[in-house]
Amino acid sequence: MKIQFLSSSLATTLEVGKKLGSYSEPGDVICLGGELGSGKTTLAQAIAEGAGVDQRQYVNSPTFAVLHEYGGRIPIYHMDFYRLGSSEDVLALGLDEYLCGDGLALIEWFERAEDVLPESVLVVHLSFVNTNSRAISLHSSDYRWQKIIGELKTTLNLS
Ligand SMILES: Nc1ncnc2c1ncn2[C@@H]1O[C@H](COP(=O)(O)OP(=O)(O)O)[C@@H](O)[C@H]1O
Ligand SMILES: [Mg+2]
Repeated sequence: MKIQFLSSSLATTLEVGKKLGSYSEPGDVICLGGELGSGKTTLAQAIAEGAGVDQRQYVNSPTFAVLHEYGGRIPIYHMDFYRLGSSEDVLALGLDEYLCGDGLALIEWFERAEDVLPESVLVVHLSFVNTNSRAISLHSSDYRWQKIIGELKTTLNLS
């Protein structure tokens, strides 16, 4: 199952993120792809908000870290693999422990270490269209995510 739509405003992306976060369960992994400035961090933050993270926690976070942990309805592990070379780095840092554990893992630049990721991930890809618009695609081979994608499509009236 794969859907693709145009988010023509920051507000739309935030709404999608909050919905995804509200559906998330412990052990979920959401991979965020797309070039610099496409909206990965923005979307991750909205997903965390949907999962019950108080946004003040985000405002107080230092920027450059491989892992930020937030307490929401479930623990949120926001990771950024940008500075990592490969999956060996992920394993050396013990980041694989946060995948399929007690919380929701959100991973920017997941392409660096695709081979350590479980198959049941939700992949979200963002691409820059213009200042306020992003093309967003969602896909997963996991049945539960496929149902969620279907529901999201209906609720948000996406085409
Ligand atoms: N429709 C949109 N969806 C997501 N972000 C948007 C949108 N329109 C504008 N933006 C802006 O684009 C920027 C994306 O930055 P960021 O989330 O840090 O990207 P990345 O983490 O992919 O490098 C933010 O400043 C955000 O406000
Ligand atoms: Mg980012």
